[in-house]
Amino acid sequence: MATPEYTPFVFLLLLFQSSVWGFPVCQTPQESPTCGYKSCHATKPGMLNVHLVPHTHDDVGWLKTVDQYFYGDRNDIQHAGVQYILDSVVDQLLKNPDRRFIYVETAFFYRWWKQQTDDMQNTVKQLVNEGRLEFVNGGWCMSDEATTHYSAVIDQMTMGLRFLNDTFGHCGRPRVAWHIDPFGHAREHASMFAQMGYDGFFFGRLDYQDRNRRMVAREQEMLWRASESLTPPMADLFTGILPNGYNPPEGFCWDQSCDDPPIRDDPDLEDYNVDDVVTRFLHIAHGQALVYKTNHIIMTMGSDFQYENANLWYKNLDKLIRYVNQMQSNGSEVNVLYSTPSCYLQELHRANLTWPLKGDDFFPYADSAHDFWTGYFTSRPALKRYERISNSYLQTCKQLEVLGGPISGKGPFGAGDSETLKKAMAVAQHHDAVSGTEKQHVANDYARKLANGWAHCQVLVSNTLSSLSGSSAPRVYCEHLNISVCPLTETSKKFSVNVYNPLARPVSWPVRLPVNGTAYRISDAKGKAVDSQVVPVSQATAAVRRGRGYAVNELLFQVQAPPLGYSTYSVSLLQNGPPSPQSSPLPRAPKAVQNKFLRVTFDPETGLLSSLSNLETQQTVKLSQNFYWYNASDGNNSESIQMSGAYIFRPNTSTPFIISKTAKIETLQNSVVQEVRQWFSPWVSQVVRLYTDSRALELEWTVGPVPIGDDLGKEVISRLDSSINSSGVFYTDSNGREVLQRRKDYRPTWNLRQSEPIAGNYYPINSRAYIKDDKDQLTVVTDRSQGGGSIQDGSLEIMLHRRLLYDDVRGVGEPLNETSDIYPEGLVVRGRHLLSLSPPATAADTHRPLAQEVVLQPLITFTDGELHPSTRLEFSGLQAVLPPAVHLLTVSQWDQDTVLLRLEHQYQASESKEHSQPVTVNLQKLFSTLDVLGVSEMNLSANQWKDEMTRLDWKAESGEKPLPKRGGDPSVWEVSLKPMEIRTFLLRVRQR
Ligand SMILES: *[C@@H]1O[C@H](CO)[C@@H](O)[C@H](O)[C@H]1NC(C)=O
Ligand SMILES: *[C@@H]1O[C@H](CO)[C@@H](O)[C@H](O)[C@H]1NC(C)=O
Ligand SMILES: [Zn+2]
Repeated sequence: MATPEYTPFVFLLLLFQSSVWGFPVCQTPQESPTCGYKSCHATKPGMLNVHLVPHTHDDVGWLKTVDQYFYGDRNDIQHAGVQYILDSVVDQLLKNPDRRFIYVETAFFYRWWKQQTDDMQNTVKQLVNEGRLEFVNGGWCMSDEATTHYSAVIDQMTMGLRFLNDTFGHCGRPRVAWHIDPFGHAREHASMFAQMGYDGFFFGRLDYQDRNRRMVAREQEMLWRASESLTPPMADLFTGILPNGYNPPEGFCWDQSCDDPPIRDDPDLEDYNVDDVVTRFLHIAHGQALVYKTNHIIMTMGSDFQYENANLWYKNLDKLIRYVNQMQSNGSEVNVLYSTPSCYLQELHRANLTWPLKGDDFFPYADSAHDFWTGYFTSRPALKRYERISNSYLQTCKQLEVLGGPISGKGPFGAGDSETLKKAMAVAQHHDAVSGTEKQHVANDYARKLANGWAHCQVLVSNTLSSLSGSSAPRVYCEHLNISVCPLTETSKKFSVNVYNPLARPVSWPVRLPVNGTAYRISDAKGKAVDSQVVPVSQATAAVRRGRGYAVNELLFQVQAPPLGYSTYSVSLLQNGPPSPQSSPLPRAPKAVQNKFLRVTFDPETGLLSSLSNLETQQTVKLSQNFYWYNASDGNNSESIQMSGAYIFRPNTSTPFIISKTAKIETLQNSVVQEVRQWFSPWVSQVVRLYTDSRALELEWTVGPVPIGDDLGKEVISRLDSSINSSGVFYTDSNGREVLQRRKDYRPTWNLRQSEPIAGNYYPINSRAYIKDDKDQLTVVTDRSQGGGSIQDGSLEIMLHRRLLYDDVRGVGEPLNETSDIYPEGLVVRGRHLLSLSPPATAADTHRPLAQEVVLQPLITFTDGELHPSTRLEFSGLQAVLPPAVHLLTVSQWDQDTVLLRLEHQYQASESKEHSQPVTVNLQKLFSTLDVLGVSEMNLSANQWKDEMTRLDWKAESGEKPLPKRGGDPSVWEVSLKPMEIRTFLLRVRQR
């Protein structure tokens, strides 16, 4: 995204604003635009109005990389070139002012815009101001809904919408959210879209049974009440299902990539077909009208990467409109027009109907009986994790850009920026990126872009930390601590560890560093000695790191860091040599492992978990855990030829194979951690870990290379089996926020005919899942998005890794069979599940903060040698800790003197007795290094001032009536947050 020029004019305005609402409002452009609803073509009240919506669906990477798609490179893979699409569409729009086009993916539009001349840019502005070219959705990409985290989705929407506002002003603001391709739809996405100010939402894919029922009942258009916590209509979103996915009706595709007959309208020539075309069209229109409620219907005239030669489409659409409307003089009551989703939406609104209310979500998505799109919830688990930690790193990078001020971008370590990682993360949210449904070379490109973003952020972080600490010692980053690789700590005799905490409350984490010494002295920022332990690197870790790094030991200690700040620990080697015998693991399972919060027992025969107790609440459940794999269907099956693939999960049998009934065990117990290392097979191992200060039991799993020598594709799960009486119900989060209830073989809005007992019961898990009964709730917090289900009562299974031998014929054209240079025989993936056991009434008090600590993890950096005595060892960017219910979702530099701030209430209504209460935050007492001079509230995507935000209101057939508006804040500076509320502010700041 282009950082907008900071004009002196705006600067002056800011300086001289006296009120705290000190931002200039959008000026009215001179040419008085007629964009938006005002630019819609007239419709005919007594007729069936058919809204033709010319559009292209441009994947921000899929079979080709985003840049290959932009230029039209590698057309041998897929013929697609977005630059030509935009060239051609603009040209064709100019030929006839009636024509319309919508554009969706700002990642592409931005690339194109940069290359245009001033003349062309002015021409395009004119088209936008007249509503002939309209942006819909408008985020950087069209995000995946099953595997994304809300914070990254908000960021990518903010980036795309800001570009549109900066470039086009209010005519660039999309009114409609448009997710025509994502493979199922998350309630949290609908909630976010509502809070971003969209008037409506359209999509293409939903379960085929759901669609059939909705067609009969004429319920393809509805009001989605997308939050159980937010007061209606805050999270209410009008939602429409498109008639034919996002394709044109059968026989009416006039793109160069299609074979349908053009309109041949010269009666003197062969094959005159106008009558035939009109008849077929009227037939389709009347059929479509039967399954929708109003006398308006929409047709999506376009598809993937269409309109590269837009003349073909428009020439035929012009004729279609002319000839179909000519029939009106013969009594036809069908009126066809060029339109856009917002013009169609406006007519639905004018119809003044009541709409069915939707409260759940659209997962899982099946397109026929054996074709459940539940595999991609887990596909490419390594990319999913990399995307998630990249989000953590980006938030830290943006915070440090604000806390460091100008020196962060240009300082002792050179030029750094957050922009590169912002863009890489925005691209990674696309529905073929983090979803894992792209070709291998494209997955590699997403990862490479993220890595490049990290490199740019590292310079920024180094600049800021050197400025805050007063030490310009070179800063070392170790990105492979999860496999105990860090050249500096492996060799250094004296180094310091800086722990940056991106959360708004102090947090304590365990640190595990690869070392070769056997004893170290560690002191904290106040010079106090810190308890530490040295333990041998496990064989599983040594095997997975494959010659990168040679540490024999790991140094373990607990660190703490203040809110939005850092703390520095000094480490010095005391003793070299082999690990001491006491630190070596014992070759047997302990009877129990416990700290002051939890106690876990193991079955001495099998080495598996056998129970989990919460010592504070004195509750115990039976609990075992093991690894299994489903044999992926190869399509050779009497019921259906569907294979398991990148999108689709289709096990061959409902009974998974156990990898091993018993685990070989090693046990290690010391003052920092107790761990039971379980070895199940050469490709599956796990560490069950309990840190001294933790309320959660950590299961660190390592899976891979998944063997395929037997020619069987494998989908590997971890399954917990407990004594909890869960009665066919379990719970999953939506995009990391609100939780939804899931019932086995059941959907809340239709009578399900279940045809896939496993795959049809899988749901996306973004950050947590749980099962519960009256007494006990067992929650699992995940470190990335994964698919999972509860197939038996008391059981919760989570899919970890998939290795498949066939393509699932949804277009990607490759089996999901990941290898790499380091792992040529198959990717190895490592991750963590954090388990907690609580009474249901207080479970959120543990899993909310826990999940947050996994999403926003500390950034650990190193400097070699002794620190200069003047170094500032501790820093906090906050004046005070925020209340536990409040999460600092965004702290990001906006313009030179402005900072974007998002405060979030992270509890649901009635989820926690203690925390599900309104809280108040004082904006002026927030930052320790910034004075807050002015504040303006914005919508969630920061492309509209809150007080200018108006949305179309919609009436629901049932459900409670929206309540009057919320009460105000105590004062301009003191803002209140209700459960699940996110508030977005632009702060005018001055560095202290
Ligand atoms: C919309 O319908 C309601 C009845 O449901 C009616 O009272 C109202 O006047 C209608 N509004 C318009 C603008 O037609
Ligand atoms: C949108 O952009 C215009 C300039 O094009 C600016 O004046 C306005 O403040 C922006 N609105 C928001 C909400 O940022
Ligand atoms: Zn797509």
